[in-house]
Amino acid sequence: MSGDLVSLVARRFEAYAGRFHDDQGDGFAYALKIEHTKRVLAIAETICAEERLPADVTLAARLAALLHDVGRFPQYLEYRTFRDADSANHAALSVVHTLREKLLDGVPTDIRRMVLGAVYLHNKRSLPNLSSAPLRAVAKVVRDSDKLDIYQVMIAHFSQKKPKHPEVALNVIDDPERYTPAVLQALLARQLGDYRSIVYVNDFKLMVVGWLYDLNYATSCRLLHERGYLDTIFAGLPADDAVLSFRTHIYTDLAQRLNRA
Ligand SMILES: [Fe+2]
Repeated sequence: MSGDLVSLVARRFEAYAGRFHDDQGDGFAYALKIEHTKRVLAIAETICAEERLPADVTLAARLAALLHDVGRFPQYLEYRTFRDADSANHAALSVVHTLREKLLDGVPTDIRRMVLGAVYLHNKRSLPNLSSAPLRAVAKVVRDSDKLDIYQVMIAHFSQKKPKHPEVALNVIDDPERYTPAVLQALLARQLGDYRSIVYVNDFKLMVVGWLYDLNYATSCRLLHERGYLDTIFAGLPADDAVLSFRTHIYTDLAQRLNRA
């Protein structure tokens, strides 16, 4: 039953996303989001299984993973950017277009509510207090899965000499030796990064490393560790004292969270 619903919604998502794909030679940008969605779904399924989350939470998390970036397609079509600050909140667009396109038709109301809630909350800097424990769990799975895939997307992107698509680079300065000290100071104080303070590519790398503080599940920390994303990112950052101290901080934190699991 739940598997059928996920396949049904996955087919609807593919048909929906496919409509944007041939638009004005910018298929690359849409293809990125389609592939991202598939990987986020796979990661969400791993987290739900390993954390032994209940069936309703698992179903809602799988559907929310599939639909979390539905708004990226109309966002890019209209604004030619994935920068929310320069266009629109893509999570809100995801909710609007999921409803407009009837992507959740046939899904029970309680599940549908959790899906829409988690989709809407997936890009918030931090989760608000939620009275519904199941919704909170679904939102946490989607946020962790999204972050884990973005690590990989960013690493692949940082390693390109000439990024295929400038919009994906978020318009930051690529100077291998420089970063913004305030960004690093905020992260050392365990504050979540603010995209508005990003000037250099290295700021973005530092902020992505700091997402560790915001991962919710032990399985997510295990995946982060096993995939070696942090090692790869630190290898591409300047090795000065401040960065090395941040590195020690991060690895200590990760080790504690892995041991606790
Ligand atoms: Fe998103």
